[in-house]
Amino acid sequence: MSSAARATSARRVVADATSTSRGRRRRRARADDVRRRARDGARARATTYASGLATLESCVEAEQFDRAMMEELFDVADAMAEVRPGTPESLMLQGYLMSTLFYEPSTRTRLSFEAAMGRLGGGIVSTESAGEYSSAAKGETLEDTMRTVEGYADIVVLRHFTAGSARRAANAIGKPVINAGDGPGQHPTQALLDVYTIRKEIGRLDDFKIALVGDLANGRTVRSLASALTQFNNVKFYFVAPDVVKMKDDIKDLLTSKGIEWEEATDLAAVAADVDVLYQTRIQKERFANPDDYAKASGKYIVDRSIMDALPKSSVVMHPLPRVDEIVVDVDDDPRAGYFRQAQNGLFIRMALLKVLLRV
Ligand code: CP
Repeated sequence: MSSAARATSARRVVADATSTSRGRRRRRARADDVRRRARDGARARATTYASGLATLESCVEAEQFDRAMMEELFDVADAMAEVRPGTPESLMLQGYLMSTLFYEPSTRTRLSFEAAMGRLGGGIVSTESAGEYSSAAKGETLEDTMRTVEGYADIVVLRHFTAGSARRAANAIGKPVINAGDGPGQHPTQALLDVYTIRKEIGRLDDFKIALVGDLANGRTVRSLASALTQFNNVKFYFVAPDVVKMKDDIKDLLTSKGIEWEEATDLAAVAADVDVLYQTRIQKERFANPDDYAKASGKYIVDRSIMDALPKSSVVMHPLPRVDEIVVDVDDDPRAGYFRQAQNGLFIRMALLKVLLRV
């Protein structure tokens, strides 16, 4: 190579390096700008709730949410569904950390909470199978675990096998706690996403009929949902359950005390013909002390093509999932099969809850 050619090549290398570093500077400036706009936007959006969301400190029981809070939360969830990667909104939780402590298995609740935090720019510290892999296995109390995690994270999402544990956890620390299901007790975020799904699917939260089907004794989702729906007008409940897992008296008494119509039924096809929402649930094998009772309950009420044929055209089939065999997969393609849309709504509701509880 001649000396002139070497000089030209050297100039090109310097020019390339300069242009690469200029590109890097431009990208860094753009990212700084997005972060600055996210911070400014978050400040501008903070504490503007008209309902009790403004003072909500934790999410432990469905009863904490009145109608105004739910409706305002659903509007936030609608906005969360529009958040796109790379926008200022997608960074509104940047710098915040969420801890997910799950002592029971989960697909949807844990992953949707972690996805929600990630989609809003926050970080996650997580332990699944917390009973086995956290120091609970060495005898640490829930309170001590919570007080430790409080030092690391800004918000804690807890799934536990004992009813009442989320309340204990919330009482133990000064940071927001979200109940992601406490044994046979409550699953408030599921109730919120279920009510949100009903609003999206049938277009209203008053004047409708709902059938709760399957394991109504152990299913925390149906108990929390029934309680949440007492906030709305003219909702009629049908309970369709095998004898060994009927809806418990506390929920029936709650409905009766509020003048809400409910009835127990055994003919699923007849009920299906009369409802706007058919909410199917799994028989929860893991909660049966007696295997004979599980055998009596399983397989009794199945949503199949004949049930879909009975359902009105404008209705929706919901299920908190996971399912075993209580909805046959052949009906998944029916437009009224809303259970995977319902699972995705969980992401938007949990993004909204994180935004509300972290006050951004
Ligand atoms: N619906 C629900 O709570 O699902 P997971 O158990 O998978 O979280």
